Amino acid sequence: MTGTETKSCFFQFFLCVKCPFVFRGIQPLKQEQTRILEHRHEQADYWVMQLSAPGIGPEVRPGQFIGLQAPRLDNAVLRRPFSVYRADNESVSILYKVVGKGTAAINRLLPGETIDIIGPLGNGFPEATPGLTPVRIGGGYGAAALQLQARTLQKKGTVFFGGRTASDILCADEFKALGWTVEIATEDGSVGSRGLVTDTFDRWLDERSDTDIELFACGPEGMLRAFGDRAVDRDFKAWLSMDRHMACGVGACLTCVIKKNDPEKGWQWARCCKDGPVFESREIAWDE
Ligand SMILES: Cc1cc2nc3c(=O)[nH]c(=O)nc-3n(C[C@H](O)[C@H](O)[C@H](O)COP(=O)(O)OP(=O)(O)OC[C@H]3O[C@@H](n4cnc5c(N)ncnc54)[C@H](O)[C@@H]3O)c2cc1C
Ligand code: FES
Repeated sequence: MTGTETKSCFFQFFLCVKCPFVFRGIQPLKQEQTRILEHRHEQADYWVMQLSAPGIGPEVRPGQFIGLQAPRLDNAVLRRPFSVYRADNESVSILYKVVGKGTAAINRLLPGETIDIIGPLGNGFPEATPGLTPVRIGGGYGAAALQLQARTLQKKGTVFFGGRTASDILCADEFKALGWTVEIATEDGSVGSRGLVTDTFDRWLDERSDTDIELFACGPEGMLRAFGDRAVDRDFKAWLSMDRHMACGVGACLTCVIKKNDPEKGWQWARCCKDGPVFESREIAWDE
């Protein structure tokens, strides 16, 4: 067991108890033993898993996440956080990348087997502001967090996807089918423009005469910070879903804290799992 996992076992204990509700403030957080309805390969290291979750599915708001208990893993007891990719009255789905021992254990599960989950977690994205053009930015598996809200918005906008190579670009066809304009950038140029997604976005923004846009972004921290800086400089709102290592996922262990600007104290700690994971760019006090 790793150091972080040992320290966080205490917090995990109460989440492992088989109770129907775990209360997180006034918002009920549910725990379900879910059955895997579908587990399919998407591309490269990316997979989609659909879980039967009638208690959690109807409660999910765009940008929220769930905590999955990786099965049969004696030396890794912590739940792994995943954005909800799809949700309906009966189920939730995740779109995930196999990166380590937890995701590898999840990946070995077959349809019909069960997995323990808690959720919905976090606050998710706010409602899109009427009158503003929605712009989404997805880096790698961050694309998964952008799906739910885009499916419900009447107003279509532009979505930018970035990654190292073609296999890191996810959900582009889904956004196209929803009527969104899709812009892609890969570092190796294997699909879309060669270079960083920020460069593609900058060119697009420079061609616009107005900045009546609102950004919703999920991806690696460096990418989020770059878009957050642009939002402050060009004076538009950017909602950033922060990807932090999480031990408990419910606000108890402080593994996931970031510095949040505070008008009186300068800054204060905020928990990504409970106070986030979505923050407006001006709220975040980035480390130098
Ligand atoms: C709010 C939130 C939503 C997420 N949504 C998704 C999603 O939709 N799809 C998806 O594939 N992943 C998502 N992640 C990341 C996912 O939780 C991690 O990839 C997973 O926990 C890794 O577990 P592991 O045991 O396989 O990896 P480990 O063996 O613990 O680590 C393997 C490697 O992955 C890195 N890693 C572990 N956790 C994270 C993390 N949170 N962020 C960045 N790198 C990490 C480690 O540093 C290490 O290099 C999300 C994370 C957060 C915080
Ligand atoms: S992961 Fe424990 S407080 Fe956020």
